[in-house]
Amino acid sequence: MPLTIVIGTQWGDEGKGRIVDLLSAEAQLVARYSGGDNAGHTVTVGRDIFKLHQIPSGIIHAHTVSVLGNGMVINPNTLSAEIDLLTQNGIHVSPQRLAISHAAHLITPMHRLLDQAQDEARGASKIGTTGRGIGPAYVDKAARRGLRAQDILDPASFREKLTAHVQDVKRQMQLFFGSDVTDEQSLIEEYAAKAISLAPYIRDTGALVRDYLSRGMHVLAEGAQGTLLDLDQGTYPYVTSSCTTAAGVFSGLGIGVQQAGRVVGITKAFQTRVGSGPFPTELLDETAGRLRGSGANPWDEFGTTTGRPRRVGWLDGVLLRYAVAVNGVSELALTKLDILSGFSVIKICTAYRVRGKDYEALPDGLQTQQMQTYQPVYEELHGWEGDIRDVRRWEDLPSQAQQYVHRIAQIAGVPVRMVSVGPEREQVIYLA
Ligand code: IMP
Repeated sequence: MPLTIVIGTQWGDEGKGRIVDLLSAEAQLVARYSGGDNAGHTVTVGRDIFKLHQIPSGIIHAHTVSVLGNGMVINPNTLSAEIDLLTQNGIHVSPQRLAISHAAHLITPMHRLLDQAQDEARGASKIGTTGRGIGPAYVDKAARRGLRAQDILDPASFREKLTAHVQDVKRQMQLFFGSDVTDEQSLIEEYAAKAISLAPYIRDTGALVRDYLSRGMHVLAEGAQGTLLDLDQGTYPYVTSSCTTAAGVFSGLGIGVQQAGRVVGITKAFQTRVGSGPFPTELLDETAGRLRGSGANPWDEFGTTTGRPRRVGWLDGVLLRYAVAVNGVSELALTKLDILSGFSVIKICTAYRVRGKDYEALPDGLQTQQMQTYQPVYEELHGWEGDIRDVRRWEDLPSQAQQYVHRIAQIAGVPVRMVSVGPEREQVIYLA
């Protein structure tokens, strides 16, 4: 099958960027299909560390074409900065290599203001959004008053639509939050200039992706965020505003469902979450500090986009099984196994205790209120001593690490095909 889908099985930050980077070596086209610059995909190539927010991680491979699909919300300001940063680092970015869907929606600075003000106003029940304007941009899309990339192609009417949008949000900010937006004229001018500079990249990306697929070329769909942040299938309302699961690939790129073949679920060897919401296996003791790291290393558990410390916990097998089912995951890629080295005991949640009974599947579906009362039931496995970051062959992994990987595959019901033991490209073990 020419289409490979890469999906996060947790709450994002599973290490999708580094796996997409590896899989892109065999792809001709790499496409993002949902979300915006709330994502932060880190790829380490030698001494270079690329932190990508909108452009697919595949761009780092010179032979690939990158697509920002119609399911995305795009911020021209941060996208221009991302293009500049890649160019400065020797990555060639041109309209031959990067295509933006004409139907993708635009995030404006007004969406950001609204996002931050709305989340702040939620008080104790705040979602803890990335503050990037994602929710308000998708609200405008659903309300059929959004700005689309194709609007940029007619600069005069684009300025008019933009001005109307700015005035509209300005009024909302005054009315609901008592805050004023000043200097909106320069905001409009600067934003319009950045947006118009992207015009050469805008095209019918659906036709482009379909053409690649019809010619048997290998297309990689790069998921953003994770399954549990999906607007429908996640821990609502503590979710993002897009379809992050495999289903979103088809509407977010404009391709037919029969293309689905390989669905790679990315799973961190433990669980993390940024922002609010239920997290049954969350740890708050010193183990949490060990899993999180101090923040001194780029791979420590601090948000790529916001720098916030991530909440951490043991791997949740119940939620992993759910993610496999919801996405039709056909194989797993396990990341950050090296971080568990040195733990004498490693726990994995295999069931939830609810009203005195153990359940291996969610007893009431993914309902946020109920989940907060679920007790995780843990299985304990032996840990391993010693550093595994230099291991490249399965047979060289300590037997306890092998057992942990085997157990994850058993719980998930699908094979683990890749295990990453460090951030570098070559720090990966492939399994038959
Ligand atoms: P939003 O997408 O900025 O609206 O944020 C909604 C929720 O999703 C918040 O809890 C964020 O922390 C979380 N979130 C959004 N994008 C990411 C991501 O790329 N990684 C991890 N969490 C994310």
